[in-house]
Amino acid sequence: MDFITLNNGKKMPQLGFGVWQVEDDQATASVAKALETGYTSIDTAMIYKNEKGVGKALKETSVPREDLFITTKVWNSDQGYENTLRAFDESLERLGLDYVDLYLIHWPTPEFDNYIDTYKALEKLYKDGRVKSIGVCNFELEHLERLLAECEVPPVLNQVECHPYLAQNALKEFCTLNNIFVEAWSPLDQGGEVLKDETIQKIAEAKGKSPAQVVLRWHLQNDTIVIPKSVTPSRIEENFDVFDFELTEAEMNEIDGLNKDRRKGAHPNEMNVR
Ligand SMILES: NC(=O)c1ccc[n+]([C@@H]2O[C@H](COP(=O)([O-])OP(=O)(O)OC[C@H]3O[C@@H](n4cnc5c(N)ncnc54)[C@H](OP(=O)(O)O)[C@@H]3O)[C@@H](O)[C@H]2O)c1
Repeated sequence: MDFITLNNGKKMPQLGFGVWQVEDDQATASVAKALETGYTSIDTAMIYKNEKGVGKALKETSVPREDLFITTKVWNSDQGYENTLRAFDESLERLGLDYVDLYLIHWPTPEFDNYIDTYKALEKLYKDGRVKSIGVCNFELEHLERLLAECEVPPVLNQVECHPYLAQNALKEFCTLNNIFVEAWSPLDQGGEVLKDETIQKIAEAKGKSPAQVVLRWHLQNDTIVIPKSVTPSRIEENFDVFDFELTEAEMNEIDGLNKDRRKGAHPNEMNVR
């Protein structure tokens, strides 16, 4: 496992395990399998409705708490200072934890214009030691610029949709300059077209690896944090087995060339649901 050092000095595994669209009861088995495989970073959210199931696996594992890196997120309808503090307590209770490693704003929802108040609650939780790091998801450049101008504690990362068809080059450049990591959600394009792409398949064949492993390797070599999701035990293992090979510069460039700025999920400025 490769670890990265966040802008507050905390270490985070560069490869983690995502659980969006995993039922609460299934989350226990999937997270248990991931922990057995060697993942220690788990990415959930209040809105995934599986914090309890994740918490059950965390309670049952022999991996010590200090070796785990648990992320959850405040949902749009819970934004605002007081609401966020309450939502955090509820998430913590469902997870059965007394702190989380990373707490994120799930979407900026610019129409409601309250992500600054929400972030101030995250800063309070951080100062109180109840979250070890704080950050955001789906923040576009303008949201990050405003946040950096108004916050005291800079976000450690911005979790955004990112894969070879949506390379997020401008956002990556801004984040690198500001010491903020990019964390890729849907890093495998949700198991979609990217994995069938001819270039990805050709490189996979040449490396004796799967298309998913090649895509994960591309993220890792770009200094991006990845959190692939799977409920399939063999894929949970496959996605973890990415530290024994490297893509060449030419292969990285070929994959960079696949970018189409094509999103699978919503554009953050249009995601104003609560
Ligand atoms: N902050 C946000 O707004 C946000 C939004 C979306 C996601 N996320 C986070 O990011 C995580 C990952 O994103 P994601 O779940 O959208 O998509 P993903 O990880 O890119 O892809 C997951 C899909 O790919 C399939 N898959 C997994 N490994 C595979 C492999 N080796 N070969 C072929 N197919 C494979 C999975 O199928 P099976 O499960 O059937 O094996 C599943 O259908 C989420 O779980 C969540 O934690 C965050």
